[in-house]
Amino acid sequence: MLTLGIETSCDDTSVALLENNKNLRCFLVASQLKDHETFGGVVPELASRKHLENLIPLLSQLLDECEIKNPPREIHLIAVTDGPGLMGSLLIGTTAAKALAQAWEVPLIAVNHLEGHIFSNYLAHDDLLPPFITLIISGGHTELILVRSFGDYKLLGATRDDAVGEAFDKVARLLGLGYPGGPMIEKMARGGDPFAIPLPVPMADSPSIEFSFSGLKTAVLWALKRNPNLRVEDVCASFQRAAIEALLRKVDLAVKITGISKVAISGGVAANSWLREKIEGKSWHAYLPPIELCTDNAAMIAAAGYNAYKRGERSPLSFVPDPSKSLA
Ligand code: KG4
Ligand code: ZN
Repeated sequence: MLTLGIETSCDDTSVALLENNKNLRCFLVASQLKDHETFGGVVPELASRKHLENLIPLLSQLLDECEIKNPPREIHLIAVTDGPGLMGSLLIGTTAAKALAQAWEVPLIAVNHLEGHIFSNYLAHDDLLPPFITLIISGGHTELILVRSFGDYKLLGATRDDAVGEAFDKVARLLGLGYPGGPMIEKMARGGDPFAIPLPVPMADSPSIEFSFSGLKTAVLWALKRNPNLRVEDVCASFQRAAIEALLRKVDLAVKITGISKVAISGGVAANSWLREKIEGKSWHAYLPPIELCTDNAAMIAAAGYNAYKRGERSPLSFVPDPSKSLA
């Protein structure tokens, strides 16, 4: 059974074809990084215009590459992200998906983008079955979720303010490193001392599972104001150390509270090499997707959609995307 996945929730246009639950036939991403770079962040109006330009050519390329000659006969299901995300961006993907579902007479599944991130790990690891804990860390989200079974999620904790990826992006902007900030900070941090600047680990002493990154960003700003001659490499390394430590301490806490020691980490920040190094010594077992599945992609949406379809879910053509859709 072939599922077509479509993802347009933020600034990446992506399409994928998935055979059954895990066999990824092909997937493509049209990145808009170059378009948003000059503005230092994603410009919503520009993002939706670019999705509009990119989606149909990308879909044609996917069908060509997968040698799909007769889509209505060969594609059996369409899965599309319906939130959370930018409304204009979501509308492009969902409208295209609805039109194709109607024209091809195939069922449609609206997929929560966060559930998609959970399935990026499922695609990569055969032994990842619920119950497990998942940490979703991206430009828009920092959430710890208990996956009781697929389709049954419980929010354990989230950020009070900025998402961790957003903090990477904002600190990079302070340092004039460009957008997106995460990969730039990671690169600069390689030449720095993670303990050069005594930045606090946010929420370190709080007994609850919650995150906060806006104070850490402000601490970086004050450190730079006090000493403008700080080495950029040291600032990056110290910020990265504190931000990743904040994430991992709360994973430790979630493992302790739930007694579950399988932890699936996904989202753009899961690509971070310092994070990947630091989980090595943990008592819990970490699952991470390959780098190309960490950031937004339609493969994970197809996988989540296929699973939902097998659980009996169907979405009517009348569904409306929800920019602040929650998972649990
Ligand atoms: O999952 P994603 O592609 O899109 C959202 O749903 O937000 O995540 C993008 C975020 C950006 O904030 C970016 O700076 C961050 O992930 N990111 C990283 C790294 N690669 C991407 N953060 C830290 N280290 C990285 N290597
Ligand atoms: Zn995402």
